[in-house]
Amino acid sequence: MKFEDYKQYLSPALAKSTDLVIKSGKGLYITDADGKTYIDCVQGIAVNALGHCHPAVVEAITRQAGLLINGSFNMANFESTLQLAKKLAEVAPGNLSSIFFSNGGAEANDGAMKLAKACSKRTSIIAFKGSFHGRTVGATSVTASNSKYRKYCEPQMGGVYFATYPSRDLCPKGFDAEQRSEYCLNDLKSLFAYVVAPETVAAILMEPVQGEGGYVVPPQSFVKGVRELCDQYGILLIFDEIQSGYGRTGKMFAGENFDVVPDIMTVGKAIAGGLPMSAIVSTPEIMEEWHPGMHGTTFGGNPVCAAAGLAVLEQFEQLHILDNVNQMGAYLKSNLLTLQKKYPFMYDVRGLGLMLAVEYAHEDGTPAPEIWATCRKACLDAGMMTLNCGVNGNGQRFATPLNITKDEVDKVLEVYEIGLKAV
Ligand SMILES: Cc1ncc(COP(=O)(O)O)c(C=O)c1O
Repeated sequence: MKFEDYKQYLSPALAKSTDLVIKSGKGLYITDADGKTYIDCVQGIAVNALGHCHPAVVEAITRQAGLLINGSFNMANFESTLQLAKKLAEVAPGNLSSIFFSNGGAEANDGAMKLAKACSKRTSIIAFKGSFHGRTVGATSVTASNSKYRKYCEPQMGGVYFATYPSRDLCPKGFDAEQRSEYCLNDLKSLFAYVVAPETVAAILMEPVQGEGGYVVPPQSFVKGVRELCDQYGILLIFDEIQSGYGRTGKMFAGENFDVVPDIMTVGKAIAGGLPMSAIVSTPEIMEEWHPGMHGTTFGGNPVCAAAGLAVLEQFEQLHILDNVNQMGAYLKSNLLTLQKKYPFMYDVRGLGLMLAVEYAHEDGTPAPEIWATCRKACLDAGMMTLNCGVNGNGQRFATPLNITKDEVDKVLEVYEIGLKAV
């Protein structure tokens, strides 16, 4: 089967970077319709926490599909979904123990903003430049990782203000991490002073580690500073953990790296081992303000997705996934840093756990998306699918499964160096 023969039936809106027709997947690997096998460093964009078709996930899906595929979680309850709610509440930080299940990241973020407004009776939302929160009109309105995502989406949701995230791209040249933190906290304070009265702000929405925006890890002082400003003004802090959560950074949720607990957290991508599911997680006190009927869903809380989600969390425990992420993340990062010495166009190697990215730039530091393009093509020809990030498209993400082995990391590195040599 060739993509070319079917392309005419699909909207070109999806920016497909390959023509691959994937027929099957197993762990780190995918096989296309022609029988060629590739290493998959995309994994559904950080979705398959345990790689493709993990046997425990497949077994859970198959078992549940034979029992019940759908009812309506709006009206009744399913065993697997109830159990997942309890488990998710147990692994969530602080008192975040009340769950609303939905289907995807954007929908969860829309819901989280509705919840924050309902609870606070305030109307404004502050988000950050460089952020990506999804593709619905609501989520697009708070997304600023690239203006192309917002093109012709006017009028957007009102009451949204953007502050500066402490990434190198967005701060004055030459600033170190602490200077960036101070600069961005001041930016937030000046937003309060000049643009939006803090007592009208329902929530500050942020990715504790920016994903699409370039796998940017903020300084702890910044994340703590945002939490303090929220506390000072009674603003709810929403962490979008859709990409950074579920073990990807070596902690169950990325916010834990900074010792900061949000008031509301959105979870998606990895939650159901590849099936579409997301969740809004908050405290019982905040959720109580969302009265019956103020939010709802047809598919959210699907029992098959929940069964897969339970299998994922069971495997996290059995396989000591967080330990593996920390060990394999450190191993991959140290090897990337070694490669950086050999290939100076690897301008930056950054990230936490297995949320790692390489940024390509010219000698003067200007972004080099063409280096990414050359590397990506050579990697694909050599049998590895990769993904970029960052406003200039010059970052390369490594979104491997979280149960990746050392041998598999070595294979990733081997093919990656073929890509680097092609540059
Ligand atoms: C941080 C973050 N939030 C939200 C989303 C949107 O999720 P979805 O595509 O499932 O709507 C994404 C998707 O990449 C994401 O990375």
